[in-house]
Amino acid sequence: MIITTCGNSELIAKRLAKQLKVKYSPLTIASFPDGDIYLKFNTKVKGKKVVIVQSFQPKSDMSLFDIVFAGETAKNLGAKKVILVAPYLAYMRQDKRFNPGEAISSRIMAKMLNGAVDKIITIDPHLHRYNSLKDIFTISTKKLSANRSIAEHIKKKFKNPVIIGPDAESYQWAEAIAKVVNCPVTVCKKTRISSRHVVEKMIDKITIAGKQVIIVDDIVSTGHTMIEAAKTARKMKAVSVTAIGVHGLFVENAIKKMDKYFDDIITTNCIKHSTNKIDMTPLLLQELRKEKR
Ligand code: R5P
Repeated sequence: MIITTCGNSELIAKRLAKQLKVKYSPLTIASFPDGDIYLKFNTKVKGKKVVIVQSFQPKSDMSLFDIVFAGETAKNLGAKKVILVAPYLAYMRQDKRFNPGEAISSRIMAKMLNGAVDKIITIDPHLHRYNSLKDIFTISTKKLSANRSIAEHIKKKFKNPVIIGPDAESYQWAEAIAKVVNCPVTVCKKTRISSRHVVEKMIDKITIAGKQVIIVDDIVSTGHTMIEAAKTARKMKAVSVTAIGVHGLFVENAIKKMDKYFDDIITTNCIKHSTNKIDMTPLLLQELRKEKR
């Protein structure tokens, strides 16, 4: 087995290689003068399992391209199996044609990966209208979850927490996390006016006053979803409000916008960011150990 990366998940890739005692060899990726991709493996992959560790952020478009080029090249060079470890899998939110003429991006992304790699391992992919990754992938898939690690972090760092999911679909992770923490949980009803404007209302009125509110979501992109939930918690006299996101994309100055509503903003290291406090390497390690056997 060898571990490589297209550049986005270097730290996790290195840690995995060290723990698994396998070679870490990053790819050389550059551009020709006209902008075409140049990609090169720097170690022999013939007969080996090649693990490409690459989150789809930053630059989800280039990441997809790089992964497809890397996967195809590894196969072409005679790799035994190509496994993509994508801690964050992009394009999953466009899971239907919301308006006439739109691309269903998740299906196109999956089609490209189906041809390029043999297996995909990912963490909390955005499954809203799909029941499972099998709905779009024909290759083998493994969906891992950060829920347990997030819950353990909350148990260690908070004394009197309540969990809030900022929208209906967040109930799946909000409830699972609250169960392990053993604390109250509720979700908000979110109405999305546009990609940058949402309104939220709490569904079950649980006691917030005097509590440490933790808002958990799978993706924090512009931050508006988190901010609206935080405003509600503030109004209800929460003692502190913390945001925990699995995938911190933080686009369009999200952190700056979120700062005044939150005591703390925490993410897993699925996407590299200064808010990373919850390490996903042990979870990925467990899965890759099975591949090494
Ligand atoms: C969508 O349903 C996701 O679970 C997140 O709530 C959403 O992607 C967050 O986006 P934003 O930070 O732009 O409000």
